[in-house]
Amino acid sequence: LSKFPPSLNRIFFVNSGSAATDLAVRLAEAYTGRCEYLVLDYAYHGNTRAAIGLSPYKFNRKGGKGKPDNVIILDGSKTIGNKGEINLQEISGDVPYTFFAESIVGCAGQIVLSSDFMQKTVSRVRSAGGIYVADEVQTGFARVGHSFWAYELYDVIPDMVILGKPMGNGHPMGAVVCTEAIAKSFETGMEFFSSFGGNPVSCVIGSAVLDVIEEEGLQQNALTVGEYLLNEMGFWKNKENWLPDVSDFVVRAVRGSGLFLGIELLSPANGLPATKATVEIVNKMKDRGFLLSTDGPYNNVIKFKPPMCFTMENAGELIRELSSVMAFRKLTSI
Ligand SMILES: Cc1ncc(COP(=O)(O)O)c(C=O)c1O
Repeated sequence: LSKFPPSLNRIFFVNSGSAATDLAVRLAEAYTGRCEYLVLDYAYHGNTRAAIGLSPYKFNRKGGKGKPDNVIILDGSKTIGNKGEINLQEISGDVPYTFFAESIVGCAGQIVLSSDFMQKTVSRVRSAGGIYVADEVQTGFARVGHSFWAYELYDVIPDMVILGKPMGNGHPMGAVVCTEAIAKSFETGMEFFSSFGGNPVSCVIGSAVLDVIEEEGLQQNALTVGEYLLNEMGFWKNKENWLPDVSDFVVRAVRGSGLFLGIELLSPANGLPATKATVEIVNKMKDRGFLLSTDGPYNNVIKFKPPMCFTMENAGELIRELSSVMAFRKLTSI
């Protein structure tokens, strides 16, 4: 809890990010007395029934049943940069919505939100008694470099935070951190019980993870290595830096923070997503020993989320290999 501002002073331990989302939903409903949600497009919050209902990445794709009636999707992609244009007009002024937001939207293609959008949305939500839940399952624990939690990038303090993945560095752990008022509203309702949440072995592991982040300076490492990568990858955005401009992709954007980055590729012919090129580049990189992935609605964003111990030397190698794979592909995809 010492990693959070004073208002976030209650913690519930569970065993996964999904269990944390599920519990956050119960807490939110106890506190607001309502079940209305705002979510970002292409968000993913977990695999339980409640979490899928808040995850356009699931309910709007293969096998999904579409958007539940109690959910409004905000188009997070419009918030890139600092435009802050958003479909806030769809939000009713007197409903206490619970606003769920991944602090950088991974499945949407590593979308960094804007402070303006976050501040406007949260202030609108709070004015009707609603709350803001930050999902830090992917972005938390120093990964974004500039801060320990990615929500800090936007200067808004959440009412609840969901934790998972890196919390146990591979060991299954999750948690919900919230305000005293939210925890109190839950006290009088149905009892919450978790057999393994907060067991001593998990807590020792979680505590060791925090120690290692501190002792090995991993937040500073994420910042230094991440800034270097953003800078080097930014070079590819400039068309003149390429060899012959004859290929089926250009780099449209390089974005993210610390060791949570994305490179978006478009077709130069029609500006559409360059999905085929993205998938091929990621596969070629695997042959060279680098596990990247594709993300975004069209799988045209190369997602980069390495272990936190990724060094400057590793980063140099990554840039060399990625440059060579991309340049080779450019030369041969005529
Ligand atoms: C942003 C986000 N929230 C929640 C979850 C769910 O976490 P878990 O897989 O630990 O249940 C994930 C998992 O990928 C995630 O990326």
